[in-house]
Amino acid sequence: MVSDSLDEIQALRDAALGELASVQDAEALERWRVAYLGRNAPLNQVLSGLGKLAPEQRRTLGQATNAAKVALQEAYEARLAELKARAREEAFARERVDVTLPGRPLAPGRLHPITQVIEECLHILQSMGFQVASTREVELDYYNFEVLNIPPEHPARDMWDTLYVQPPSVLLRAHTTAYQGRMMQELTPPIRILNVGRNYRFEAVDATHEWMFHQIDGFAVDEGLTLADLKGTLTAFAQQIFWPTVRTRFRCDYFPFVEPGVDMSISCHACEGRGGDCPVCRGAGWLEILGAGMVHPKVLQAGGLDPERYSGFAWGMGPERIAMIKYGIQDIRLFYGNDLRFLEQFA
Ligand code: PHE
Repeated sequence: MVSDSLDEIQALRDAALGELASVQDAEALERWRVAYLGRNAPLNQVLSGLGKLAPEQRRTLGQATNAAKVALQEAYEARLAELKARAREEAFARERVDVTLPGRPLAPGRLHPITQVIEECLHILQSMGFQVASTREVELDYYNFEVLNIPPEHPARDMWDTLYVQPPSVLLRAHTTAYQGRMMQELTPPIRILNVGRNYRFEAVDATHEWMFHQIDGFAVDEGLTLADLKGTLTAFAQQIFWPTVRTRFRCDYFPFVEPGVDMSISCHACEGRGGDCPVCRGAGWLEILGAGMVHPKVLQAGGLDPERYSGFAWGMGPERIAMIKYGIQDIRLFYGNDLRFLEQFA
């Protein structure tokens, strides 16, 4: 009877150890532990039945059962350690990094071509004594138009296809010229200032028109300024931003806030001004660059300056247009298309 029971314990032990050898993961191991070492495990049932046996039998069976339990517990702990070690090795293999691989180079950022051209323009003009202002893009109709001698209902408003934020008084500035009134309120002559930034127009977008574009607007007011100062300043500027032998041409043009008004062209770099069948200037020999003129007396007056005492000149130019000429770019939309193949050329 006792020897039968001893055989049974031995068999239980062997079966448990056999099963343990095929346990492959933590979950199966836990199931094994509950089955063979848990409260309702067969060995524990044997132990709780011992009380019914005679003392001699109780001791023999008790010792054998406890020895089996210790063996199973030790085997369990060994298996647990093995599985843990294996899991750690697998994780290492999975997460392994090859530290001998060459690093991935960081792509350094660079300035947008328009920002580069703006900085170049400002550098040249600052060396001539101009200061830089940077003013609001959301502007009052008063500064965008009225101060500039363009009253409401004036047909000249059609020159700017304006986007209104709160019609009729608040708009997205259509030109950076909209700061002149503000500057005259803040500064006293001599004034030499530039306004740089974005402008917005309700444009049909094509190769030469964008609904958002930049302008650099120049504004100089002092005693005794003449058209010669305008021409000299802008010609010296053109020779630096384009090339030293560039020639400039001024022709009459109309802007309500200047009198006289002019447009400035530069000699075409492709045909050197000869024209003919030049594809760049389409035979004109000249490329139109900017609008300019002598500040209209009414503008000075609206800004609280005496036109009998002061005169001034002003101009407005587009960095996009300058960049297109400098780099031979055919389509203005390339600047804001975010195509890295285009942008990366301007290192
Ligand atoms: N603001 C004008 C435009 O956007 C350009 C300009 C500026 C002309 C200053 C004359 C003087 O068309």
